[in-house]
Amino acid sequence: ENTAFQKVVSHAKEYGFVFPSSEIYDGLAAVYDYGSNGVELKNNLKEFWWKAMTLMHSNIVGVDSSIFMHPTVWKASGHVDSFSDPLIDNKDSKKRYRADQLLEDKAEEYEKAGETDKASALLTKMNQLLEAEDLQGVHDLILEENITCPVSGTANWTDVRQFNLMFSTQTGAVADESSTIYLRPETAQGIFVNFLNVQKTARQKVPFGIAQIGKAFRNEIVARQFIFRMREFEQMEMQFFVRPGTEMEWYEQWKEKRIRWHKILGTPEASLRFHDHEKLAHYANAACDIEFQFPFGFKEVEGIHSRTDFDLKSHQEFSKKKQQYFDPEVSQNYIPYVIETSIGADRLFLLSLCSAYTEQEVGEGDKKKTRIFLKFNPALAPVKAAVLPLVKKDGLPEKAMELVDDLKYDMKVVYEEQAAIGKRYTRQDLIGTPFCITVDHQTLEDNTVTIRERDTTDQFRMDISEVRSWLLERVSM
Ligand code: GAP
Repeated sequence: ENTAFQKVVSHAKEYGFVFPSSEIYDGLAAVYDYGSNGVELKNNLKEFWWKAMTLMHSNIVGVDSSIFMHPTVWKASGHVDSFSDPLIDNKDSKKRYRADQLLEDKAEEYEKAGETDKASALLTKMNQLLEAEDLQGVHDLILEENITCPVSGTANWTDVRQFNLMFSTQTGAVADESSTIYLRPETAQGIFVNFLNVQKTARQKVPFGIAQIGKAFRNEIVARQFIFRMREFEQMEMQFFVRPGTEMEWYEQWKEKRIRWHKILGTPEASLRFHDHEKLAHYANAACDIEFQFPFGFKEVEGIHSRTDFDLKSHQEFSKKKQQYFDPEVSQNYIPYVIETSIGADRLFLLSLCSAYTEQEVGEGDKKKTRIFLKFNPALAPVKAAVLPLVKKDGLPEKAMELVDDLKYDMKVVYEEQAAIGKRYTRQDLIGTPFCITVDHQTLEDNTVTIRERDTTDQFRMDISEVRSWLLERVSM
């Protein structure tokens, strides 16, 4: 992993954004905790998504379904039978890998060496073998390509076998087959099984959508790249139910809407792109990813899928409960088709950190140094404003606290009196606070304060009575 990314990871830990889970016990692979600044940023991202979905669209409503669901849900959805990755072990290092990942890494190596044809031939062959579920073929391909284990350096591989990514546990006191339940690997199924409940109670007509934010769990074989691939993570999913035959129009509309949302969030256009899927999942008739240029390359942040009527139809079959909708406009009963937008809150968090992390050369000669700051969209910043008395005396702390009290009901503000003012500005830069407000002796005379802007470091004075509305205009979503 490259150094630019390492800097972001260390920064996240040092400034209270993300910690390894159970760190005092040396951590738990692919599981992370959010610190005081991290939780604010993550909540802001979730709120931004929730508002864009449910406030901006009168035909999208929310749900909050359980993590545990009836085990048959996962039979109907296809997860019990086919939510798995091909696994391979190196016999010498005892390290475990995803067979497809090893081949993809090899293809990337070819790509980097300018051997584009070889790279695409390898990927095509791999996809064919995976589609045909020819695990022996995948194994042979790894040997043919002479792929060695990065740890042991040998090509002494076990067979390739399928590994189901769902975590399971038992309900009740007796552990038998029938008591096995799963931790949901996606939030989408909680929406599908509530389709009619929500449609009727929220009095929605097709086309309409159901949105949900919640935890999902996957026993990922390889833990890599910090919070990019986690075993416990959070998804923000929206299933949009449409009349059969209109799904392609809606698919295009949702692609447009979602990429626009990312731009509004402040992600530079050049670091975003669509990646259309050629190989489609069993339930989809069109699918694409929105990818972001992470320091380790363009990678998926969000998926937009045209899921047909696969899920509702399958739930109708397994549950024997009709999942049809009567469309008064065409006087027809049908099972709606579904366009899904699905984004990981943690992956969006990583995008925001990577895109905000800024190093800037400042000063001249001996005074030259690197200023580090997080250039968050103010609406996403963990702290919106820091209120700083210039000195800890002469009534300045009291005056500053008055301002804090005026602001604290509307936004996250902090009060800081410790250390020299420059140092305090730097601290706020490092966590991405867009505005610092300094109360000084002049404040006592004319009721003005100094506002310092994070990105430009420009400073100017403003009447204290105007601060609240000035800030609200800039930090609100
Ligand atoms: N319901 C469709 C679905 O779950 P997915 O492509 O498997 O589709 C959607 O996941 C999004 O969830 C991904 O684009 C990613 O942002 C996030 N995601 C998936 N697996 C993840 C993991 N192990 N760690 C963090 N985020 C993950």
